[in-house]
Amino acid sequence: MKSGLNQFLSLLLLLIPALLRAQTAVIPVETKDHVLLLQEDQQERIRTTYFGSAFTNQSDYQSVASQFHYDDANDGIYNAAYTPSGTWSLTEPAIEVKHADGNSSLELKYQSHTQQKQNDASTETRIVLKDPNYNFQVTLVYKAWAEENVIEQWTEIQHKENGAVMLEKYASADLYFTGDNFYLTSYHGRWAKEMQGKEEKLENGRKIIDSKLGTRAMLLQSPNFILSFDQPASENEGKVILGQLAWSGNFKLDFEVDTYDNLKFLAGINPYNSAYALPANQVFKTPSLIYAISNHGTGEASRGLHRWARKYRVLDGQGERLTLLNNWEATYFDFDEDKITGLFKDAKELGVDMFLLDDGWFANKYPRNSDRSGLGDWQENVKKLPSGIGHLVKEATKEGIKFGIWIEPEMVNPKSELYEQHLDWVIRQPDRPEVYYRNQLVLDLSNPEVQDFVFGVVDKLFTENPQLAFIKWDCNAVIYNAYSVYLAEQEMPQSQLYVDYVKGLYAVLERVRTKYPKVPIMLCSGGGGRGDYEALKYFTEFWPSDDTDPLERIFMQWDYSYFFPSIVTCNHVTDWGKQPIKFRVDVASMGKLGFDIVFSHLSEDEKVFCKQAVKNYDRFKEIIWHGDQYRLVNPHENDFSAVMYVNESKEKAVFFGYFISQRQRLITDKEPIKFNGLNPEKLYTIKEINLFPGKRSPLDSEKVYSGDFLMKAGYNPMINAGRTSVVLEIEERK
Ligand code: DGJ
Repeated sequence: MKSGLNQFLSLLLLLIPALLRAQTAVIPVETKDHVLLLQEDQQERIRTTYFGSAFTNQSDYQSVASQFHYDDANDGIYNAAYTPSGTWSLTEPAIEVKHADGNSSLELKYQSHTQQKQNDASTETRIVLKDPNYNFQVTLVYKAWAEENVIEQWTEIQHKENGAVMLEKYASADLYFTGDNFYLTSYHGRWAKEMQGKEEKLENGRKIIDSKLGTRAMLLQSPNFILSFDQPASENEGKVILGQLAWSGNFKLDFEVDTYDNLKFLAGINPYNSAYALPANQVFKTPSLIYAISNHGTGEASRGLHRWARKYRVLDGQGERLTLLNNWEATYFDFDEDKITGLFKDAKELGVDMFLLDDGWFANKYPRNSDRSGLGDWQENVKKLPSGIGHLVKEATKEGIKFGIWIEPEMVNPKSELYEQHLDWVIRQPDRPEVYYRNQLVLDLSNPEVQDFVFGVVDKLFTENPQLAFIKWDCNAVIYNAYSVYLAEQEMPQSQLYVDYVKGLYAVLERVRTKYPKVPIMLCSGGGGRGDYEALKYFTEFWPSDDTDPLERIFMQWDYSYFFPSIVTCNHVTDWGKQPIKFRVDVASMGKLGFDIVFSHLSEDEKVFCKQAVKNYDRFKEIIWHGDQYRLVNPHENDFSAVMYVNESKEKAVFFGYFISQRQRLITDKEPIKFNGLNPEKLYTIKEINLFPGKRSPLDSEKVYSGDFLMKAGYNPMINAGRTSVVLEIEERK
């Protein structure tokens, strides 16, 4: 007979699993106003059970799961926090693997989790999941910035199997939203037409946004998205999340409205030709999905993301930027030393900080006189620049301006010495005809020797010219014929190339920033083919598009602004479009201002205007760069458009308004425009600036208005066919 104690212990042993199950893990990933709630179920799998406003009482989180009853069979379960494949789930997986023994099944059970405050004001949640049959582990990581309502999430995969595990799919995020109606804004485009947003109501089935271009991954479709709940996205109302997959290569966003009319959202590296062999004891870290959440529309969400980007992400996001004169459209490839030093004088007279020498300064055997040759041969062209870059830097410095330079170090023209000497460094199929994009090919950055070469291009420029103040880093080709001699030699799968390329790029950028931590570098990709928050850890700004027609820019800058603060978007005044110089300069001032025109060709009045506009910009740029942006009038829905920026103390603001219709007799100034972001209790004066010489403003700069009035009744800046572009400086009257 068992003793009483033994009986008690046996009973306890029987009860332990039940007791443990009763204490399943409840893991709230919280920001100031929102929570992503993850919960362990009876099978020890982690589910997303709630995504919405944060609860007042933490203890209530425990009760959420029991309110949902749609999981009796597995066929329709979509809310796994990281859906495995080959076992119980038949929905779209977040992860697919082939274990070292060739088996393709995966189960992920909850093991443990931690939540820790980080030095960057975020809280990091790490949830460890393990396969009970294999020594294979996935850690889900969530970094939540409370104040900005921003979440960054990624996944870390590792194992201790006998040999490499083939990762066939490895999403960054597997989110689940309950609700009735979901609206997705996704972005599409092509060269000079980047970032064209389209909103649609998601219906049952899957909607996929992806890229297979390798480099320039954002060109045709973009990793940025806006998801709006219950109603189409609006600026000041409604629940939205907006963000992006931060990865400079192939990506895939996968939205599926399921059988319960809920939404499953998978985001990650595109599995297309990207199976990755992960050796034992190494960690594969996926890129991050980054998103801002708001219950008050896209305006608040964007401002949260902007603040986060400036404070925690973009290189020197809280610092200064350089205004510049660029020679690309002024000269294209046709220049010499005299022409360039002549332009320094223009830059000086215009009042900008720097001159930027664009493409065409290098290569001798195959001179870079067009985009057909020379790429890869990074020595000054002795015909164009006999005294070298050093001389130009010196001359610019004498003129009192800084000097910056263009490079495109990841690429090669077949007509180059680099191609002749290092064919094995070029991405191409050895036995097939080469396929070119802008007459060039991509170097194989999976190869450490190529990484050294690319780093060397930057390092040589800075070592030889310590006063070099700026780099524009371009990237004009996509990857055709994906094949790497290096991976073949290393006996690594060719399917790693797309991923190893991007990892190689980041490794180079890491080296550049270790040695040159602060020097501003612009990210450019034949226009806006590349601009993501992983790359922007290393870059201070990016080039949104080669389309600088200011009318188009009003739309494009508006659309980019959902995701990027104005300090990172480079806007240049060029000869694109038919708008007068004032319009062009005003539009370019809503970001990082630059010029790409022949200044000396302007009329005297135009020169006077530009010089004054640069001075004005120098006065208010602080608000554009570091203030909050308020999108007031949407150009997609109106015949005019307006945006304003307000500084943190709400003492100063700048307003930009544009008439964008072709219909000259249209009346757009009947009604006031409601301002936003001001302090209702403060009093403000409003002064029109950037007036063209000889023009007088009809607006009364003496009159005083309360912030309350300006935000409720609004203000009429008189934007009309005769005043197509209006800039206002708003200041607290103390
Ligand atoms: C593409 C860029 O977008 C342009 O601004 C210019 O730098 C050219 N490349 C130069 O080739």
